[in-house]
Amino acid sequence: MLKDQIQSLLAQVEAMQASSAEEIEALRIQYLSKKGEITALFNDFRSVPSDQKRELGQLLNQLRQEAETRINAMREQIANSQQQTANSQLDLTRTPDPIALGTRHPLSLVKEEIINIFSRIGFTVAEGPEVEDDKHVYGMLNFAPEHPARDMQDTFFIEKEPGVQKPTDILLRSHTSSVQTRVMTSQKPPIRVLCPGRVYRNEAISARAHCFFHQVEGLYIDKNVSFADLREALLYFSKEMFGAETKIRLRPSYFPFTEPSAEMDISCNICGGTGCSFCKGTGWVEILGCGMVDPNVLESCGIDSKEYSGFAFGMGVERITNLKYRVKDLRLFSENDVRFLRQFESC
Ligand code: DAH
Repeated sequence: MLKDQIQSLLAQVEAMQASSAEEIEALRIQYLSKKGEITALFNDFRSVPSDQKRELGQLLNQLRQEAETRINAMREQIANSQQQTANSQLDLTRTPDPIALGTRHPLSLVKEEIINIFSRIGFTVAEGPEVEDDKHVYGMLNFAPEHPARDMQDTFFIEKEPGVQKPTDILLRSHTSSVQTRVMTSQKPPIRVLCPGRVYRNEAISARAHCFFHQVEGLYIDKNVSFADLREALLYFSKEMFGAETKIRLRPSYFPFTEPSAEMDISCNICGGTGCSFCKGTGWVEILGCGMVDPNVLESCGIDSKEYSGFAFGMGVERITNLKYRVKDLRLFSENDVRFLRQFESC
């Protein structure tokens, strides 16, 4: 009789026990799958006389529902107890997994070393915008209006309206000397600042040139500042950066914003000055430009050139890094190849 079968299955279902997800699944298959025992009763139900259909149909549905409810309840119970064991296995006293640390970029290391060295003789850091105007990058620094540095080949001009190239006086600064003018127009002497930052020039990218690189500018304005002060400051810097045995050499040069101007070489720190392929046999390598701030520059920034004088210098951070760590290809600095960066981990 179908009714007896339903009742005996109901008793079985009510007594179902399982201690794992696999056992629960086995019970589900046994009773509720396509070939399960309860499903089989639904097939038998088709041949039940119609006057019994109502009663037996209800009983069958109750049986199936009971089986489903019990199976779901058992599943939930197992999941809960698994979570509880997982929680009780948490060791809150354990040290966390080490976080993978990145490395400092060699340009940052060298920049900070430069700042550190100059901070010991009283220089503080000043910063200025990378998107600048012509006035601060060239005009106030005594560049003649037709100076070739302004030319499109060197300077990235910013279009005021898309597609309209010139005339525009907004540009990406091509040197950090622009920060000199910002500082001189906003501070009163004595001024002793170091201006580190990124600069841009319209150059084809190669091992030796890039369209952006980094400079550190130095500026010192006070009463009675002389060329000897400049020389002493740079000698001190060179010895601190490259070793106590380092010598310096100043060669006359030209920059619009300094008069007189010079370029500074240090004795080659690879061969010690005897001559090698790095210094092309000369024993010297160039590291920076410098000079006494041109009175025109002081005046254009509102500083009385009869009362004050000063010196300035500018160096390329990539160049110093190359000398210190022998990085010969400029492109390595901006590729973010972690194998390159990891070599500076202990620096
Ligand atoms: N601004 C120069 C350049 O980008 C570097 C420089 C030279 C800066 C002489 C100075 C300086 O302050 O006195 O090539």
